[in-house]
Amino acid sequence: MTTTTEQPDAHPDPEQEALHDRISADSLTTRRDYLRIVATVSGGLAVGGVAVAAGVLHRHGDGTADPKKIADRIERGQSLAFRYPGEDDRAVAIRMADGTLVGYSAICTHLACAVLWRAERGSEGELYCPCHEGVFDARTGDVTAGPPPRGLPKVVLVERQDGSVWAIGTARSGESPQEGLCRQLLGSRPEVAGQLGCPGARAEGATTEGGRRV
Ligand code: FES
Repeated sequence: MTTTTEQPDAHPDPEQEALHDRISADSLTTRRDYLRIVATVSGGLAVGGVAVAAGVLHRHGDGTADPKKIADRIERGQSLAFRYPGEDDRAVAIRMADGTLVGYSAICTHLACAVLWRAERGSEGELYCPCHEGVFDARTGDVTAGPPPRGLPKVVLVERQDGSVWAIGTARSGESPQEGLCRQLLGSRPEVAGQLGCPGARAEGATTEGGRRV
């Protein structure tokens, strides 16, 4: 495993900045910390790799979970084992060589063995299940070899400006992080889903005043 201290540059897109400001506005929320964390999803995606999340879902259902800090920082080339959304749900976070941050369930979709990160395999490393030699693409979670019937569920990760990394939701195999996050927010926090522009959500109380960085 290689580790560097280099961090990607941030060049926020004006549209994403405006969205960020709307979401961060104090007047919007009774769950302010949660909103501030969610706000970094859009900001992170806008700057390409700073806080890119991949995420998937709780293996046994669609239950939502509160945001959880998993690390003060994850450097390029590093991986981290953690539990999310429940204490029995093994997961892995990986900072790719280009700075992209991805998170997956570490429970194999074949017969539920533990999936391991192998940084030295291929050009970008791979996620490997030793039970029956299942292999998953590190960037997408898709199956690339072996018997697993579907890709790994993802854990949606975001990085705050202080470098800390948080798990904020899950997404199913084949779902994008945004789709997974929106699906869960529509059910549990529809006002946040509206502020994020999730399809099917009603935007409530959007404002451009008072926005600020997390
Ligand atoms: Fe992972 Fe069979 S349990 S490949």
